[in-house]
Amino acid sequence: MKTILTGIKPTGEIHLGNYIGAIKPALELAKIDDYSPVYFVADYHGLTKMTDAEEFRHLSYGVAATWLALGLDPNKVIFYRQSDIPEIFELNWILSCLSSKGLMNRAHAYKAIVDENRSVGRESDYGVNMGLFNYPILMAADILMFKTDVVPVGKDQIQHIEIARDLAESFNHLYGKTFVLPEYNIQEETAVLPGLDGRKMSKSYGNTIPLFEEPAKLQKLINKIKTDSLPPESPKDTENSILFMLYKEFATDAEIEEMKERYAKGIGWGEVKQELFQVINRFIERPREKYKELMASPATIDRILKEGAEKARAISTPFLQEIKDKVGF
Ligand code: TRP
Repeated sequence: MKTILTGIKPTGEIHLGNYIGAIKPALELAKIDDYSPVYFVADYHGLTKMTDAEEFRHLSYGVAATWLALGLDPNKVIFYRQSDIPEIFELNWILSCLSSKGLMNRAHAYKAIVDENRSVGRESDYGVNMGLFNYPILMAADILMFKTDVVPVGKDQIQHIEIARDLAESFNHLYGKTFVLPEYNIQEETAVLPGLDGRKMSKSYGNTIPLFEEPAKLQKLINKIKTDSLPPESPKDTENSILFMLYKEFATDAEIEEMKERYAKGIGWGEVKQELFQVINRFIERPREKYKELMASPATIDRILKEGAEKARAISTPFLQEIKDKVGF
């Protein structure tokens, strides 16, 4: 059995990009028999960006409810809240003591902020908290604690997995073979889902379509998706069409073929938008109801996550003890 692990941080409303890029592939991998999946709400990672307690709590429940509404089966997946597993934070500290500061200086997310600050003449660490700086180490602790073999993530996370590998290697070298070296699994074709403006769908660009949007608002957002100004009757290219890229994620194979033909013959963008709305709405109708039910019953979510935490701690408690023995506590 191979352990496959991934987390989602509660820093924004879950959108179609999160679903296509992370949740859908993770749920599919969870169905494979040789994988033992471990999925969690990365709330401590979320805290690096969140300062509004109410919103943070709401978004944390939202991440959990999203996984469950989309079909995660807590009997088959170890499913928990990161902050319910204190062993991760003890390991985080132990790994911190093995991490060179220089390595963290070169982490992409941190470096991008520093570069941005410098380019506008601000002090280089402006707006950087220590949680953000240490982010990759906590993520390594998440991964190494459960002897993860495979991490399904987006391209932007590759460096984090490499840092986790480096830390595992350093530890193993110093204290003897302890950690499994994790690998990443990137869903190539769906890695980047375009947003309303054609850039990667991302909360930071404000171009997202929330996954559980109500039908009327969903239609409105879809109507905002950028297109060119070709008239309805001219033949259109599916390759560079944001609408088509989204459509093929939700339509059946037959529908995709038909849409390709309609593009070739000439179809109005308004009509494509209508069809896109239909397929997305068809897909989310049921999960949206389930999501709403769960969000109305936080106690149910708490219970499921608590049971998951017990299963996770059955692994993390003895393993942390082994790690502490090796280090010399
Ligand atoms: N950094 C990940 C993201 O932003 C979230 C995350 C936290 C994670 N810990 C993880 C992903 C461990 C995979 C494994 O998407």
